[in-house]
Amino acid sequence: MVQLTLPKNSTMSNGKTWPKPDGATNVREFRVYRWSPDDDANPTIDTYYVDMDDCGPMVLDALIWIKNNVDPTLTFRRSCREGICGSCAMNIDGTNTLACTKGMDEVSGAVKIYPLPHMQVIKDLVPDLSNFYAQHASIEPWLQTATPQPQGEWKQSRDDREKLDGLYECILCACCSTSCPSYWWNGDRYLGPAVLLQAYRWLIDSRDEETGKRLDNLEDPFRLYRCHTIMNCAQACPKGLNPALAIAEIKKMMVERRV
Ligand code: SF4
Ligand code: SF4
Ligand code: FES
Repeated sequence: MVQLTLPKNSTMSNGKTWPKPDGATNVREFRVYRWSPDDDANPTIDTYYVDMDDCGPMVLDALIWIKNNVDPTLTFRRSCREGICGSCAMNIDGTNTLACTKGMDEVSGAVKIYPLPHMQVIKDLVPDLSNFYAQHASIEPWLQTATPQPQGEWKQSRDDREKLDGLYECILCACCSTSCPSYWWNGDRYLGPAVLLQAYRWLIDSRDEETGKRLDNLEDPFRLYRCHTIMNCAQACPKGLNPALAIAEIKKMMVERRV
């Protein structure tokens, strides 16, 4: 049998249990991943109690409540609080999702919160997305054309515009890529579902004139072809998008240009 040896600092233990809020009668338990680069300690799971009568309904509301009322050192990203910026992506109750759109009523029992899986952690719930963003930049996510652009609006036909539906809505939260087993094991070379969905968004844009160059950039055993249609990505996407379908369409374009 294969014996796996985990790196020394990857094992977690129970951390601090913070006091329950004074006088609260409607209390919810949260178990939250903690790790800081400031000491040599392994990650821990801290237990917090939130006064639900004093807190909004979303998991992000609870994290903000904890930070404001219990533990100001708890670290997480957030900005828009309405599912648009993608910054509050984390693993809640075993699923990658957005803390600001995940209702606490969707979770039974203690709410367990971890950073996005298989990423380096900067602190607590904040993953290092440098590689993810560099991969996004590598697909050159902007309109490229030699034809002079028209003054004012650059209109597309209704049909061409509709081809972007299900693609332009991506908020680059990384929930899909960090749920993809292929990305876990080959994240340094495989672009992963989020970036490939973005790549397809530019490939399919009727105004873009660099389709050939974009496909050449993806023609690689790792960058594109590590997708094995496991479909975790589509299941994880909090915006209801289907990166696996976009990847399949890119593979189809690769085949079609060879015939
Ligand atoms: S379908 Fe492809 S991209 Fe999506 S989770 Fe599976 S391997 Fe990853
Ligand atoms: S496809 Fe969905 S899960 Fe993936 S980055 Fe975009 S919005 Fe997030
Ligand atoms: S805070 Fe912007 S998506 Fe959650």
